[in-house]
Amino acid sequence: MLGTPGLSQSESKEGSEPKAGAESGKAGKPAAKKKVPKLKYIGVKPCGICHKSKKQGEQLAIWQKSRHAKAYKTLLTKEAKKVATELGLKKPPEQSPECLRCHATGWDVKKEERTKLLKPRFKVEDGVQCETCHGPGEKYKKLSVMKDRKLAVKNGMIFGDKKSCLKCHNKSAPSWNPERFTTKDGKKVGFDYETCWNLIKHPVPKKKPSEPEKPEGKEPQSADK
Ligand code: HEC
Ligand code: HEC
Ligand code: HEC
Ligand code: HEC
Repeated sequence: MLGTPGLSQSESKEGSEPKAGAESGKAGKPAAKKKVPKLKYIGVKPCGICHKSKKQGEQLAIWQKSRHAKAYKTLLTKEAKKVATELGLKKPPEQSPECLRCHATGWDVKKEERTKLLKPRFKVEDGVQCETCHGPGEKYKKLSVMKDRKLAVKNGMIFGDKKSCLKCHNKSAPSWNPERFTTKDGKKVGFDYETCWNLIKHPVPKKKPSEPEKPEGKEPQSADK
């Protein structure tokens, strides 16, 4: 029951696990329910509804173009099968936890828990998706919650950083090439945060804390659209 889908719910959050022991006097609770209750994954689509406009930063499109969106599909390729065979896996890559743990989210939710933990629009096939990095969205997806970062985090939202990438971008990946990237100062590394974040970054264009909010709709930023 506490098996964690992907790495989102327990591993990748830091210092954001308030609830577990916070309730006082609950020491005698039945064993099964000690941790933070698990939240539902809602899927990319519902996030995309609000996160696709230019004004909002087109996170949906940026993600769709990224390799993260294809991470599950990669497991269906011949190349992946070859890797799995070489490693002696008994099942095909798309059914092997050894591969799914980095290439997808929600794959380890048990059948009987699916309706409880996965909304209908959630798809394992979406690979490394919004909620892989930001945590299950059931509770923070509400506009009023998400506009308030503190509140969002309280409701399960995760803000990744370099460390969160390293959960998957590390040498336990069969594809790991310790010299794949070259850092600014010329070092060869298997993962370079700067380079890689630049390839997938998806900022909200304005409303940066220091900038005053501009009036809606009339922006001189239509250069490429
Ligand atoms: C109802 C619309 C809506 C939905 C659905 C929605 N978001 Fe948001 N989200 C927003 C708005 C609005 C903001 C505030 C953006 C800003 O900074 O101006 C936001 C901000 C964020 C932020 C940045 C928060 C911060 O404090 O900087 C993240 C990360 C995020 N959303 C991820 C998600 C993910 C992942 C999902 C799906 C699980 C999702 N959102 C679903 C509207 C939505
Ligand atoms: C849940 C595991 C996971 C996490 C967390 C993760 N990635 Fe990835 N990433 C992958 C997988 C799997 C691929 C390969 C997808 C494919 O091609 O099938 C990938 C591919 C990439 C690529 C393309 C790499 C290339 O060689 O072309 C970039 C860039 C990238 N990730 C950046 C990041 C950054 C930056 C972070 C942290 C903010 C991050 N990733 C976090 C699993 C992850
Ligand atoms: C520790 C996380 C992790 C695990 C476990 C993992 N992968 Fe990956 N995989 C990645 C990342 C990250 C990439 C992106 C390339 C890179 O930076 O290594 C990737 C890329 C790939 C690629 C694209 C080839 C390439 O060189 O870019 C294939 C194929 C692949 N993985 C297959 C598999 C198979 C099959 C398994 C299970 C046997 C597996 N992976 C397990 C993280 C992982
Ligand atoms: C590979 C991990 C990863 C994936 C996949 C991912 N994000 Fe993010 N996202 C991050 C990280 C890391 C940040 C930076 C957090 C920070 O600024 O502290 C971020 C920031 C954001 C922000 C805030 C940007 C800003 O300027 O404040 C929004 C909004 C957001 N993500 C939405 C999404 C949505 C929607 C999806 C899916 C379509 C998505 N993210 C997919 C890792 C990811």
